[in-house]
Amino acid sequence: MKTIDTPEDLRLQVGAWRAAGERVAFVPTMGNLHAGHLTLIAEARTRARRVVASIFVNPMQFGPAEDLDAYPRTLARDRELLEAAGCDLLFVPGVSTVYPRGSEAQTRVEVPGLSDVLCGESRPGHFRGVATVVCKLFNMVQPDVALFGEKDFQQLLVIRRMVEDLAMPVEIVGVPTVRESDGLAMSSRNGYLSAAQRTLAPTLRRVLTTARRALLEGAAVASVEREADAALREAGLAPDYVQVRTADDLRPATEADRDLVILAAAYLGRARLIDNLRVQLDTNAALQQTLR
Ligand code: PAJ
Repeated sequence: MKTIDTPEDLRLQVGAWRAAGERVAFVPTMGNLHAGHLTLIAEARTRARRVVASIFVNPMQFGPAEDLDAYPRTLARDRELLEAAGCDLLFVPGVSTVYPRGSEAQTRVEVPGLSDVLCGESRPGHFRGVATVVCKLFNMVQPDVALFGEKDFQQLLVIRRMVEDLAMPVEIVGVPTVRESDGLAMSSRNGYLSAAQRTLAPTLRRVLTTARRALLEGAAVASVEREADAALREAGLAPDYVQVRTADDLRPATEADRDLVILAAAYLGRARLIDNLRVQLDTNAALQQTLR
């Protein structure tokens, strides 16, 4: 696996692959890789002859009081994991390569609406930073297909909307959330949890599962949200939000909507955990039975 840190060298390599008619898949990351990231690489390999990953801890998507400096940087280990997973090229640009004029002076990509709710409300500017860096990385890598985790469901929708609105020639693939054996969604930020907090963390997923069951049994959205919020507080988590939204555009769900997603964010010590669960209200009776 080659490691490259300039867009010029990247262009040469990817250009040669494209000239040879090889399809290129791309997996952007911020490093500190875990099995969730590696599943994206494995899925990328099924969709293209060549796989490019990037590691860039993007300052533009962190708020002033957030964990940019503390964010774990584990490049040597990440490189080994990527190589073993069959990644062909790792792109690791420096901050001054991505933002030569600083991120304030950088041309921005704004996805209105989708970026302003849920995580966007608590993290102003976060999705502008994500959309901007992913747009730049797409232009640098020029992939045919790019893969994103459903764990960051709102991010996936923001990227899909950006690609559609700006007519970018990149196919976007969402990959199901990879979890620890107790249900906790894998995340680079789980390392912030103490041992005691780690035992509480799977509550987030359990509360979402209970909320899904209630929706399938016909409970009203408002009461499901209220009970999920109360259950999180009771367990010792500090919920930022728990909301039932439409899965295609994150509108507040009404009784008429069928394709839903329950999204939650909660603080546990220093960590801000997020998770989500899709709910198809038209699922057949047999499936509803197994979920009871
Ligand atoms: P990062 O948090 O490193 O995640 C990189 C990719 O891995 C994202 O698409 C994310 O959704 C996916 N991922 C993380 N945990 C996962 C899990 N448990 N199961 C499946 N996929 C998982 O997301 C970012 O970086 C950044 O915002 C980025 C897109 C790289 C832009 O800076």
